[in-house]
Amino acid sequence: MGDSLSSWLALREPADSRARSTALTRVVADLFREHRPVRILDLGSGTGSNLRYLAGHLPMAQRWLLVDRDPVLLAEAAAPTTGCLVETRCLDLGESLPPEIFAGRDLVTASALLDLVSPEWLGAIARECRESGAAVLFALTYNGRSQCTPEEPEDDEVRELMNRHQRASNHGFGLAAGPEAGEYAAQSFREAGYRVGCAPSEWVLAPEARELQRELIEGWAEAAREIAPDRAAIIGPWLERRLAHVEANRSRVTVCHEDLVAWLPDHEGNSRETVRSLSAAAGPVSGREAIQPLDDHRAVSTRQAIRRA
Ligand SMILES: C[S@@+](CC[C@H](N)C(=O)[O-])C[C@H]1O[C@@H](n2cnc3c(N)ncnc32)[C@H](O)[C@@H]1O
Repeated sequence: MGDSLSSWLALREPADSRARSTALTRVVADLFREHRPVRILDLGSGTGSNLRYLAGHLPMAQRWLLVDRDPVLLAEAAAPTTGCLVETRCLDLGESLPPEIFAGRDLVTASALLDLVSPEWLGAIARECRESGAAVLFALTYNGRSQCTPEEPEDDEVRELMNRHQRASNHGFGLAAGPEAGEYAAQSFREAGYRVGCAPSEWVLAPEARELQRELIEGWAEAAREIAPDRAAIIGPWLERRLAHVEANRSRVTVCHEDLVAWLPDHEGNSRETVRSLSAAAGPVSGREAIQPLDDHRAVSTRQAIRRA
């Protein structure tokens, strides 16, 4: 598993980095302005893409613990700068959540993980984070929406089959929350006493991103065939046409993800203006909606993508 997953993670890392919400990253950085060092737990870390993105945004020094069940991926993780101390631990997080990995953490984070986990697991993580008093940043959670151009008549059906496949998957955490994971996470952290904010982090893949588009589309077709073998006769020709658009340099793909930040009222004392204004916005209504205007350009483009989808 390690090698092919490692190639996929390397292929997607630049798109992930471009997609992430800078507004929510700033919120988290703001919480820890006075901390020396910041102690961070990265769940399902893979080769450390989340570490490489966040290290430059958080105050130095940092102490990271990267946890993943795949030792091959963990072996590739490396500290991006000298101010960062990085440890790794090979662990199946679906089997156990040892309290000591959470103890003393300022921040618990993950990227591209939540759609793989179950609602029950999200509840357990929220309780562990609450227990240790950690703030939270979960980046790049797929929310079930995507858009391809030029359009093909079967695009919606294949996307729905792919979403069904996600909900029917079990990566060791119980049945995956899939496209609803962001909603479940927000609810779990609110129930644990957190304030929650959310912002879009969509991939907008230009025709030049041929390799990433190809892998993505082939993955969608494979998932769709697996969940609905009786639709194989529709999916095969769809795949051929989609890949022909990619090869002809005319394919654009948008995949909608969301980033989520959660913090405790206690954290607000550490922070400056960004968190205080977020907190005010998150007060009377759902924090998920309230925070979107912070990153207004992305919020607008996501709404357009959703309308088109
Ligand atoms: C989509 S990858 C994301 C990796 C990394 N966070 C990134 O953004 O590049 C999901 C990661 O979760 C890990 N994973 C999946 N199930 C797991 C489990 N039960 N326990 C621990 N890690 C798991 C995989 O090995 C993989 O590295």
